[in-house]
Order: sequence, then structure tokens, then C-alpha cells
Amino acid sequence: MKITIPPLPSSSRTNDEGHLEVAGCDVVALASEFGTPLIIYDEEQIREHCRTYLQSFRARTDDFEIAYASKAFTCLAMCQLLAEEDMSLDVASGGELYTALKAWFPPEKIYMHGNANNTEELARGIRSEVGHIVADSMDEILALNRIAVKNSRRQPVMIRVTPGVEAHTHDFIKTGKQDSKFGIGIADDRAFSAVALAMEQENLELVGLHMHIGSQIFDLEPYSQALAVMADFMARCQQELGFDCRVLDAGGGLGASYLSGDQPAGIDSFAEVVVGGTRREMERVGLPVPHIVVEPGRSIVANAGLTVYTVETVKEIPGIRTYVAVSGGMSDNMRPMLYGARYEALLANRATEQDAGTYTIAGKHCESGDILVKEAQLPEPQPGDLLVTPATGAYGYSMSSNYNGQPRPAVLFVKKGAARVIIRRESYEDLVHLHERLE
Ligand SMILES: Cc1ncc(COP(=O)(O)O)c(C=O)c1O
Repeated sequence: MKITIPPLPSSSRTNDEGHLEVAGCDVVALASEFGTPLIIYDEEQIREHCRTYLQSFRARTDDFEIAYASKAFTCLAMCQLLAEEDMSLDVASGGELYTALKAWFPPEKIYMHGNANNTEELARGIRSEVGHIVADSMDEILALNRIAVKNSRRQPVMIRVTPGVEAHTHDFIKTGKQDSKFGIGIADDRAFSAVALAMEQENLELVGLHMHIGSQIFDLEPYSQALAVMADFMARCQQELGFDCRVLDAGGGLGASYLSGDQPAGIDSFAEVVVGGTRREMERVGLPVPHIVVEPGRSIVANAGLTVYTVETVKEIPGIRTYVAVSGGMSDNMRPMLYGARYEALLANRATEQDAGTYTIAGKHCESGDILVKEAQLPEPQPGDLLVTPATGAYGYSMSSNYNGQPRPAVLFVKKGAARVIIRRESYEDLVHLHERLE
């Protein structure tokens, strides 16, 4: 039977045993083979999201790139998949760059970001000949030029600016406001000075501008507003500095569906707002339409992924609540603690049973705040049940930690009834392999 919980991958169904199945794989069998916590990605769903992005943009322009935001989830297999799908890549650190290059991802299709990359990270980007480095500060512009001179390379760069437009999302993940650690403000002229500074640098080729107005955005109107601000800024830079902005990166942020009721705008509407909006604004200010780049993360991987936990204990506090404690928690999904992010849950081994009540899903960590789902509707859970949280494909594994000595989970790609380990589960030995003994 097809399962209709929207946050699950579209290949999800229940089989004759009443188990959850994803891409033809029985989740109960996967948990028994690979252990829990276990992160499972429907590989075809990721590919489908990439293709929908490419098709939606291609239907409107032939001068664009979709640069997947590595920070949402990255590993060698993911970078290989993205290269196969003809995607570009956004990396935000030396480590994400290293992972991409290790997977032979084409450097010319990499956009390198970061608000505090050190000299070594920037040098790695320049020496690897990444397509674009997106400078986030005056200091970084100067550092990039010094490193480019040393390496005898003329590096294409962009500048991340803050258009001062607020996206409708959770406070802690708004990044396009004036008061932000990211980017350089347009409103107070610092962005204008940054453009002038970058243009003066002998070994930098300033080719474009970047913005990222927030994350988990459902209402696309802020993109239109931000594009209008960008267009005015581009026109001013053109007139007063002679800067031709050939690349415009509108960032990521399109919402994913974490809960059954969530209805994000969708990739095609996003493409329309970004491409249509850029065209309209360029016409208004009399500039040519630039090469358009977007950097989606969660809208590609969030709903393709799910996490499976074992229920370890069930503790009823009479008249208050019932805690269901599972085999993972904040070490594999920080988002509920960091942003108050909400998830749903189901039991993979009893996926066809009726819900019996409301339960609080607690992690196994030594923090009272380690709560994965505050109010989950479930059949009465028992120790040994397999609890699934859908839509954990973005910013779960990539923010994971070893808190309380918890080894990071295994990660699988599932496709057509077969599972492949793309990241092995950490062992206890892995936990101490960097440690040195006192002697
Ligand atoms: C610069 C930049 N680009 C892209 C993204 C991806 O955002 P999302 O995963 O919401 O699409 C982020 C997320 O924080 C970001 O900071």
C-alpha cells in the first residue's frame, strides 16, 4: 500500500508484513542488517529533484547553473551523483571542497563560500582552480588577492551581499538581513566599497554578486524583493564603477516538506520567481540578464532522507506525557534543538497500525533538550520497535557529532530494492583513533 505521508520519499509504501518500504527496500530488514540509527536516502528521489531543478530552469533560460549546497549533506557518493546529474556545487569550507575534489567533482563547477575561511582553505580553492570564490568580507577580498598573486592565478570571484530583505522563516536561520554575520550590506554602502575594492585587485576578476536571503522559505515574495534590490545595486555599480555583473547567484532556501501539512512553493515556482524576476528587474534597470545561479540544499535532499531508530525505553509520566527514548538523538539531528524544527514519526515495523496516542520522542543524550519530536502520533510504542523520522535528509548527518561517545550513523542509498552503504557507521575505535595516550 502506498504511504501518503508527504515528508517521506514518494517511493514509500507498506508491504504485506505491515513494514515501511522505501525504494523497494524493507526498512525493518535494513535496520536489522545495518543497525540503528540509520540514515536512508532514496537515491532516485535525489536525482529526480536535481532533474526537476535543471528542467525547470532550462525551460526558462539556457544560461544558468544549479549549485547544490554541500552543507545540507555531502559525501563522496553524493558528489559523484551530482556530477552525473550535471549539477554544480556550493562548498562552504576547505573540508567540503576536499570532499568534492576527492570525488573528482569538476573544480570549474564549484562555488566556494564561507565567512571565515582561513588562508589554507582559500589557497586550496585557488590552487584547485575552483570556478568561483564568493568573498564574504573586505578582509577576504584582500586575502584572496594575496593568495592569487602568490599562485600566479587570476581568480574569478563574486561578492556575497546582503540585500536587507527578510525571508519568512525561523529567526536563527535568517541570513539576508542587514544585521548578519554573512555578506556585506548594500544599504550602508559597504557592498559598494567592496565591489570597488575587488575591482582594484590585480589578480581577482570580479564577475558577479551573490545573495542568500534565508532558509526553509515557503513564500517566494522575498526573492522578488531581493532581486529588485540587487538590480538597483548592479545598476549603480555599473554606472559609477563600470562593473559588469555577469553572474547573479540568488542562493538557496526553497522550503522542504518536514510535516504532513507543509506545502512548499515547489521547484518550478521557484525557477519562475528567480528567472522571471531577474529578467524583469534587468529590463527595468536596463542591464543584460546575467548567468543565473541558485544553491538549493534542503529542497534536494531533505525529503529524500529518513532516519531509523530503535525504541529503547518507554516511560510514562502519569497525567503528563510518555517519553519514548530512541537509539540516537541530537548527535544525528541537531535541528530540533538548534531551530525548534519539527518532525513527525512512524513505526517502520508497524506502519499499518492505527495511532494510539501522542508521544514525546527523546534522544539518548545527556541533555533535557534532546527531544526529536515533541508530539508524535503513534501506535503504542514498545522497546524494540523501529521509529522513523521522515525528512531528515538535510542538515542531519552534516551537523552530526560524537556527543556522549555516540558513533555517527551509517548512511545508505536505496534504489530498486537494493541498498548501498555510502557512509560506514563509525566504530568505537573510530572515536579514539585521533587520541594520544599520556606517557
Ligand atoms: C550561502 C548559502 N547557500 C545555500 C544554502 C542552502 O540553503 P537551503 O538548504 O535552505 O536550500 C545555504 C544554507 O544555509 C547558504 O547559507
